[in-house]
Amino acid sequence: MAVIEVRDLHKRYGDTHAVDGVSFEVREGEVYALLGANGAGKSTTVEILEGHRSATSGEVRVLGADPHEGSRAFRDRIGIVLQSSGVENEFTVREAIELYGGAYRRRRSLDEVIGLVGLEEKVDARIGSLSGGQRRRVDLALGIVGTPELLFLDEPTTGFDPAARRRSWDLVESLGAGGTTVLLTTHYLDEAEHLADRVGVLSRGRLIAEGTPSELINRVSGTIVSFMLPDTVEVSDAATEFAGILGTNLRLAGRLVEATIDRPTHAVHQLTRWALDADVELDSLTVKRASLEDVYLQLAGDDADSDDADASMQVES
Ligand SMILES: Nc1ncnc2c1ncn2[C@@H]1O[C@H](COP(=O)(O)OP(=O)(O)O)[C@@H](O)[C@H]1O
Ligand SMILES: [Mg+2]
Repeated sequence: MAVIEVRDLHKRYGDTHAVDGVSFEVREGEVYALLGANGAGKSTTVEILEGHRSATSGEVRVLGADPHEGSRAFRDRIGIVLQSSGVENEFTVREAIELYGGAYRRRRSLDEVIGLVGLEEKVDARIGSLSGGQRRRVDLALGIVGTPELLFLDEPTTGFDPAARRRSWDLVESLGAGGTTVLLTTHYLDEAEHLADRVGVLSRGRLIAEGTPSELINRVSGTIVSFMLPDTVEVSDAATEFAGILGTNLRLAGRLVEATIDRPTHAVHQLTRWALDADVELDSLTVKRASLEDVYLQLAGDDADSDDADASMQVES
């Protein structure tokens, strides 16, 4: 069953076409990531699904309802973590969780929520005294306090240190394993690759690709071969040779040669045979599976004029 159905969704702000004909579905129990650079239209899409913004046109069903009507029963079944939180600084963490929890029928206990987000040390601290990452964990706590069937997470880990990010990933994974449907947005490729059952790539208000992380990786590109060419070889001479071996999907950056190929065994065999014949050592020779980052760069490259959008995509390692 589809928990979220979006059909030909459009949203204009004056001249800005923030969402430009987006369609997708999120199935029950799925963790679905909308992946895209800043300004791609992620928050607009998610906030329409939350009932916080109205669509210009298109059809949207969430848990079988029109989110814009936002009935009490509907609100009770969803959890929301907005991109920017609006929790009062004067509240303590405990007060905020108890206050928000009071609005839900199936609320989790304070201890459970605190344990899930890892804020044991900060229960009685005022929100205003917390670091950015700790505040974000309060936002997460408020999103899950009502034991939602469907959780919206808009850039849940932006600004987190690696340990806090891991912890949030664990939380999202355990919610997903427990049957919660999750729609998350992120501009971190590794986050989408790690967490999502399926990914929708948003670029300039359009969904330019969709699939499981491995489907996307397999569909758009195959294996990446890269190596450094020694000084003894003229790059321009070797380029023709490599094009014959590695195909046209070849990139040269100084002495670094990189190619995306479909038949790695064959290509690597030819490449190393060429190198042995020419008595050339291929330094840093690596053969690796393409990551979602490679896919994204390829997709964004195909999507005309999206260079400025790429600038804000990041991979954390
Ligand atoms: N309230 C608003 N008024 C006018 N333009 C907006 C508003 N909210 C978002 N936009 C514009 O819509 C586009 C998509 O924004 P947004 O949905 O926030 O993208 P994302 O969350 O992917 O960064 C951007 O060009 C943004 O500037
Ligand atoms: Mg956003």
